[in-house]
Amino acid sequence: MIKGLVQDFKTLFNHSGAVEVFFSPGRVNLIGEHTDYNGGFVFPCALDFGTYAVVKRRDDNIFRMYSKNFEKLGTKEFSLDKLINTPSDNWANYPKGVIKTFIDAGYKIDKGFDVMFFGNIPNGAGLSSSASIELLTSVILKEIFKLDIDMVEMVKLSQKAENEFIGVNCGIMDQFAIGMGKKDNAILLDCNTLEYHYAPVELDGASIVIANTNKKRGLADSKYNERRSSCEAAVKVLNENGINIKNLGELSVEKFNEVKHFITDEEQLKRATHAVTENERTKTAVEKLNSGDVEAFGKLMDQSHISLRDDYEVTGFELDSLVEAAWEAKGVIGARMTGAGFGGCTVSIVKDEFIDEFIKSVGEKYKAKTGLTADFYVAKIGDGSRKLGDF
Ligand code: GLA
Repeated sequence: MIKGLVQDFKTLFNHSGAVEVFFSPGRVNLIGEHTDYNGGFVFPCALDFGTYAVVKRRDDNIFRMYSKNFEKLGTKEFSLDKLINTPSDNWANYPKGVIKTFIDAGYKIDKGFDVMFFGNIPNGAGLSSSASIELLTSVILKEIFKLDIDMVEMVKLSQKAENEFIGVNCGIMDQFAIGMGKKDNAILLDCNTLEYHYAPVELDGASIVIANTNKKRGLADSKYNERRSSCEAAVKVLNENGINIKNLGELSVEKFNEVKHFITDEEQLKRATHAVTENERTKTAVEKLNSGDVEAFGKLMDQSHISLRDDYEVTGFELDSLVEAAWEAKGVIGARMTGAGFGGCTVSIVKDEFIDEFIKSVGEKYKAKTGLTADFYVAKIGDGSRKLGDF
């Protein structure tokens, strides 16, 4: 496949000679949802599919960018002195935002480059195609301009680009999982301190199965920001009553139960209840996985979904239908929605001998209920964003 991409790049931009090829994965979160911006724990992993880039540095200050996923949009061209979010540049605003954020942070980028992207992450499915292209751009910048920058810094700048240049107020989970991913491991990340540990995902004869609802996520960004605001409002109320915390992630469930009566707004109370209980579930789930108790890990995934459905209210008919069908299927150890919610994907742990049957029965039930066809992927956990080589 890479040879084909290199050839297409050379034809498109009329280049000959050596080019550089890069790869950045998508991600799936196993547990710890809507906890990152609450200063809590998350437990995601990088996937073995993602976004590829073929790149050649230029001698002037022009960037030319093309995506094989958006061929109708053609080549996007802009210069170093005009790094502004431009709606007509569409997807190219993501790499553009990362370039701008690197320059603003003091990194020397004084030339442009030509790049062709190709991604095999389903777009808009909640598997982080946007964070994937952000980290991909980061590693391109590091290599092409020989920057002295480590991966955690690239993760932070990529998140900053998404927050400030794109305007989506996301936490750090997606960028971290994609930049720091490690084959066959998930990452337990403390989003408050950025301390992290790799945990081998050994599922004892079972696999991770991702299912895409194929429901488009309308208005997801504004609902996401509303959830963040509710949690921040709950923190404010608690602080007004002398609790003194920066984030909900600082509260154990026990402590939260002692002080939650201060939160009189019913919606804020529900949102905070999810944030605090999900954080504790995540820590327990990783302990269970590390001790080989996959069944207990799966039960906590189920509870995570229930909390996201009832307290955080980010699931919706399609995600609930897909997860309920998974819960009813034979050989399922646990199932939940993954990512921001409001559509996108579910993640299940399914015993290997039942995977075919799972895909068939869950797909049929979901179609009968919603009229939509789900897509299924048996996930392999891969490494983070990197250069693949010179071609
Ligand atoms: C999106 C955001 C992440 C995280 C999840 C929910 O994927 O980009 O930062 O908040 O939603 O866990």
